Amino acid sequence: MPGNSPQPSALTFQPVLERIATEVAQTPGRGRPADYIPALAACDPRRFGMAVAELDGTVYGVGDWRQPFSTQSVTKVFTLALDLAREGDALWEHVGREPSGNPFNSLVQLEYENGIPRNPFINAGALVVTDRLQTRTGDAAGTLLEFLRAESGNAHLDFDRDIAASETANGDRNAALAHFMASYGNIDNPVPVLLDQYFLQCSIAASCADLALATGFLARHGIRADGSRLLSRSQAKQINAIMLTCGTYDAAGDFAYRVGLPGKSGVGGGIIAVVPGRCTLCVWSPGLDERGNSVAGVAALDRFTTLTGLSVF
Ligand code: DON
Repeated sequence: MPGNSPQPSALTFQPVLERIATEVAQTPGRGRPADYIPALAACDPRRFGMAVAELDGTVYGVGDWRQPFSTQSVTKVFTLALDLAREGDALWEHVGREPSGNPFNSLVQLEYENGIPRNPFINAGALVVTDRLQTRTGDAAGTLLEFLRAESGNAHLDFDRDIAASETANGDRNAALAHFMASYGNIDNPVPVLLDQYFLQCSIAASCADLALATGFLARHGIRADGSRLLSRSQAKQINAIMLTCGTYDAAGDFAYRVGLPGKSGVGGGIIAVVPGRCTLCVWSPGLDERGNSVAGVAALDRFTTLTGLSVF
C-alpha cells in the first residue's frame, strides 16, 4: 500500500467517491460515445457515475450512479459465469483464455486459430459463451436478466429493445464472426437465434449501483447475494484472472498498470471492477477512447486504487 493511504479497514468509501467525482469533473477530454450503434451515439460524454458495493450489499455512490445505461460488453462477465457454472471446464474446448491484443470485434485471429476465439470477452468469444448458454437454458438472455435482477435486488432491470434493434440493424460484423465460427462447428444454434440472444444480452440497461451489486459474487469467491454458491472459489478466481488479462481488450495491459484490478468494460461507457474479498465497483461515463474503454471510467478507477491502496497488487 502507498505510505499515505488509509488502511482499508478504516476506509469509508463515500468521501473517496466524492473526491474522485470532483477530480473527474475538472479533467478535460472525455472521449467520444460509441457511434457504431446509433442509439448510443446521442449519450452526453460528461455524464459520470460511480458506485462501490461491499460484500454485504452496502452500496455507496456518487454522480449518476443510479442512472441506467447500456451495459453492452459488461454482460460478458455474467454470461461467462452462468455458463461456467453449468458446463465447467468443457467450455475451454470452445474458447481460449489468452489476451488477443486485437480490437474487440476483430476477425483476423479466428482463421489462424480454427474458429476458436482467444478469450470469452472479445465479441467472438462472447458469442460462443452465449451460444453455449442458449443450448443449456433455451433462453440465454432471459437467464442473464433473471440473474442480474436477483443479484442487484432490482426487479425492474430490463432489455432495451431499441438498442437491441439498433444493433441488429448494424450487426454485420457480429454476424460475420458467428457465421465464420459456425463454419468450424463452434456454434450450436442457428446464427440468427444466437445474434438475437447476444444483442438482447448487450442491450440490458442497468445503473452503477445495480452492476456493482451484481458483480458481488466475484468478490465473495463465487457466493451469490442470497448466500448460495454459483461458482467454486477456483472458478471465481479464474474469471477474475480473465478480467484482468482480457477485460479491456487490447488496453488490458494499460488497465492493469493503471488500476491493478480485474475489470470489464463495455461500449456503453460502463466498467465493473473487483477487489476480491473486499468490494466491487462500477463506473459509468459514455465517452470512450479509441479502444472502446470509458476515458473518465478508467481515470476514476485509477484514482480509486491510488487513493485507497485497494488493488490485487
Ligand atoms: O458486440 C458489440 O458490438 C456490442 N454489442 C458490445 C461491444 C462492447 O461493448 C465491446 N466493448 N467494449
